[in-house]
Amino acid sequence: MTFPTYRNLINGHWTPALSGKTILNLNPADHSDVVGAFPSSHAEGVALAVDGAQEAFAAWRLVPAPKRAEIILRAGNILIQNKEKHAHDMTREMGKVLAETRGDVQEAIDEAFYVAGEGRRLFGQTTPSELQNKFAMSIRMPVGVVGLITPWNFPMAIASWKLFPALVCGNTCVIKPASDTPLSTYNLVQALIDAGLPDGVVNIVCGSGPAVGTPLVEHPGVRAISFTGSSAVGSQVAQRAAATFKPVSLEMGGKNAQIVLDDANLDLAIDGALWGAFGTTGQRCTATSRILLQKGIAAHFTAEFVARARKLKVGNGLDPSVQVGPLVNAAQLEISQKYVQVALEEGARLLTGGMVLQDGPCAHGTFFEPTVFGGVTPDMRIAREEVFGPVVSLIEFDTFEQAIAIANDIDYGLSTALYTRNVNLAFTAMRDLEAGITYINGPTIGAEVHLPFGGVKHTGNGAIDFFSTWKAVYVDYSDKLQRAQIDNAD
Ligand code: UN1
Repeated sequence: MTFPTYRNLINGHWTPALSGKTILNLNPADHSDVVGAFPSSHAEGVALAVDGAQEAFAAWRLVPAPKRAEIILRAGNILIQNKEKHAHDMTREMGKVLAETRGDVQEAIDEAFYVAGEGRRLFGQTTPSELQNKFAMSIRMPVGVVGLITPWNFPMAIASWKLFPALVCGNTCVIKPASDTPLSTYNLVQALIDAGLPDGVVNIVCGSGPAVGTPLVEHPGVRAISFTGSSAVGSQVAQRAAATFKPVSLEMGGKNAQIVLDDANLDLAIDGALWGAFGTTGQRCTATSRILLQKGIAAHFTAEFVARARKLKVGNGLDPSVQVGPLVNAAQLEISQKYVQVALEEGARLLTGGMVLQDGPCAHGTFFEPTVFGGVTPDMRIAREEVFGPVVSLIEFDTFEQAIAIANDIDYGLSTALYTRNVNLAFTAMRDLEAGITYINGPTIGAEVHLPFGGVKHTGNGAIDFFSTWKAVYVDYSDKLQRAQIDNAD
């Protein structure tokens, strides 16, 4: 079969990897469908890209922010025109169903429009100087060349969360897309190029984490790193970046809890749990992986939830009737399989699922059944470790206070949800859940671009603020030397 071959983008030129090697991008729903061949690059490719970005920085940082923003705005409009094609490309390379990949492209469009407005709002502060005839202010400065390492689960949205704020602040970028899903980054960057982005402002280097990500993090010419991925790799990124004092933004794992209280609207809570646990085949850092059920509703919720999980249609995301697509690759499939074993050995009860799917529409891809475990206790590994697949644990509790304690008693702190009609408890949960995001009467997934997205503990530290530095500026218009703290002290 024929498929396109893509190249790195280095200083405005489409350049093959020096190795001459490529990595095949396969459709996880049908491995005979090759989306394309992408460069398998190494440190040399990173070095060329950083050189290009450094060269471009000299002019880009001087382009007025509102003008930089206009390019991003135009890119957003170009993405609208190509939304259906980009969604189709994304479903082919990543697997999630078309409704979701349309949402992913839409999230990049939302980010473009939001950030474009920021181009006229990069406000600083002015404050009186302690000296006469002197003026003081703080202004935002770009950081320089920034390295962006993006995941495969939101291949366009998360790349846009990093690229657009970095660009509006005046930085130039080297982006390493996930090897499973590079095409969506090409589609995003092509929109910027078509919108008039100058050469070298965004560079793309494809390849594996060790071959491209590591040299990018270690390159002395890169001034900051923004990473989204696993906590294990994020820890490596932070340690390597520390050696050259680079600030690092990390967005990593989750073990997100949906709490359902006895007084909740149960149908709503079940709809939310199904979407939160099995949307994106559970491959969101915000995915619901623990459902905490108050004893009064636990039996009813469990029966209904399991029945509905069994009915979910798994298959190729390009088929509009499919609700759950494949896992992105064989390694992810193995992780879900492994955690089913772990949970069984720990004594959890498999209520549905647990198997790799290999028949019919699932014969040529990496598919796993929507899986629910009951009888899970908070100390089990299945209740504590991130699976990143369609595997969810049901945990029962007696009191609201216990639910909050169980929800918080994990290493992660990304997203949380509470279903209740009790406004007092809702506000208590908003205060007491240790997480970057809390939803009331909504699932743990569904963050909007103009609010903070991040977390606490092993989830990471949480875009304009990261991609710019504050600078203090003093303008002395007294025409004489004024020594602070000295000439104005009695
Ligand atoms: C992720 O969870 O990996 O909040 C990103 C959401 C999406 C982004 C999720 N807007 O579900």
